[in-house]
Amino acid sequence: MQKARIGVTGLAVMGRNLARNLARHGHPVAVHNRTSSRTKALVEEFGDEGTFLPAETPERFVASLERPRRLVIMVKAGAPTDAVIDEFAPLLEPGDMIVDGGNAHFADTRRRESALRERGVHFVGTGISGGEEGALHGPSIMPGGSAESYAALGPLLEDIAAKVDGTPCCTHVGPDGAGHFVKMVHNGIEYADMQLIAESYDLLRYAAGLEPAGIAEVFRTWNTGRLESYLVEITAEVLAHTDASTGKPFVDVVLDRAEQKGTGRWTVQTALDLGVPVGGIAEAVFARSVSGHAALREAARDLPGPSRGAAAGSGFADAVEKALYASKIVAYAQGFHEIQAGSAEYGWNIDLGAMATIWRGGCIIRARFLDRIRAAYEADPQTPTLLTDGHFAEAVGDAQDAWRDVVATAARLGIPAPGFATALAYYDSLRAGRLPAALTQGQRDYFGAHTYRRVDREGTFHTLWGGDRTEVTG
Ligand code: 6PG
Repeated sequence: MQKARIGVTGLAVMGRNLARNLARHGHPVAVHNRTSSRTKALVEEFGDEGTFLPAETPERFVASLERPRRLVIMVKAGAPTDAVIDEFAPLLEPGDMIVDGGNAHFADTRRRESALRERGVHFVGTGISGGEEGALHGPSIMPGGSAESYAALGPLLEDIAAKVDGTPCCTHVGPDGAGHFVKMVHNGIEYADMQLIAESYDLLRYAAGLEPAGIAEVFRTWNTGRLESYLVEITAEVLAHTDASTGKPFVDVVLDRAEQKGTGRWTVQTALDLGVPVGGIAEAVFARSVSGHAALREAARDLPGPSRGAAAGSGFADAVEKALYASKIVAYAQGFHEIQAGSAEYGWNIDLGAMATIWRGGCIIRARFLDRIRAAYEADPQTPTLLTDGHFAEAVGDAQDAWRDVVATAARLGIPAPGFATALAYYDSLRAGRLPAALTQGQRDYFGAHTYRRVDREGTFHTLWGGDRTEVTG
């Protein structure tokens, strides 16, 4: 009986497309779904694309896999993933691998990995980005788990991943939850990038007075330069689209309440735990949240604001381009800082340059810019922040006047631009020789005797605020 090199269970669109991608690359793939009609439909519709081995039961599915078994589960994160693991794990033997290709929380992945390791089964939490099309034509793949499991899985995953300059957008990220952690931060950066693009659109529309079709042209032009990216490309497409039923710009008939499935929120929650400032990502999550609070927005609608009539001058679109590039650098610098901190906390030893390399193609944040990040980490793998890399420092320095103008214009006209504003504040905070944190420390010492350190002597100190205000050692 022919055996499959790999198996996919969970044949909703992502699982189905991943299985087809594997089959198209010449890998015999076992396919299974809880309801077998989906399995049948896949083989009927796409059976001529490669070798599919359909299985109706988990037992048959597992029996059709060559050893060590490689079993990919593509089901919803959370309880459904645990249910599938519980179903399949008893059928596996030591050395076999379960690959979770969903958007799981990395803490769940760590728990699952540790439980399955006790049975000798490798659990490989794997981030997969690129949506349906990516899964079929080449996603960016971020596998965690043991080095041993990567030796058996890596060649297959690299085969089906997107390629940039011949390099696959897939590499071993690190042990246990490292792959899902990196995918989570990828999504956080995705939120920030999308928010900055949205603010650019809003400013071009309401400060520069352009219509959506004209703004689409601006984004098309930007996409031929340093901002070239999938997200800028699709922004132009969405803005150029006209609603068939009303003839209005599509963007004007869509309800302005952004939804979210949670990975951006996890990125911020995790950053808070790690003590990493990710304002760009946090503001993006909050901006979606604000947009969704319909009653709150309705209640506040009549609050006074400046006249929006004042149009921005010529050259404003170029200024927005600069502000977008600079703010984007900040958002990525913050995301990479979070990966660096997570890697240190969990002992993952993640190669940051390699993460930029595998994000150059296949994923939602794919962009020309990522090659610059790869080069920055190649030049200095220990750099504390991307902002001080030669290229980025120069780009942000050159952009700063325009960036400040854009943030000021937004404030003056009452156009919300939280992503631009927080990015600029982060930049200025890092640059500042002295921060008002000294005053914060003084207040903490005043009301709670929390102590402070001094600029001129080692040790901790406390001032007797309620007494004669002499200083004592803390
Ligand atoms: C990807 C995307 C993918 C998904 C997001 C959308 O990398 O392919 O990030 O994972 O589209 O989860 O997230 P929201 O629904 O939260 O916007």
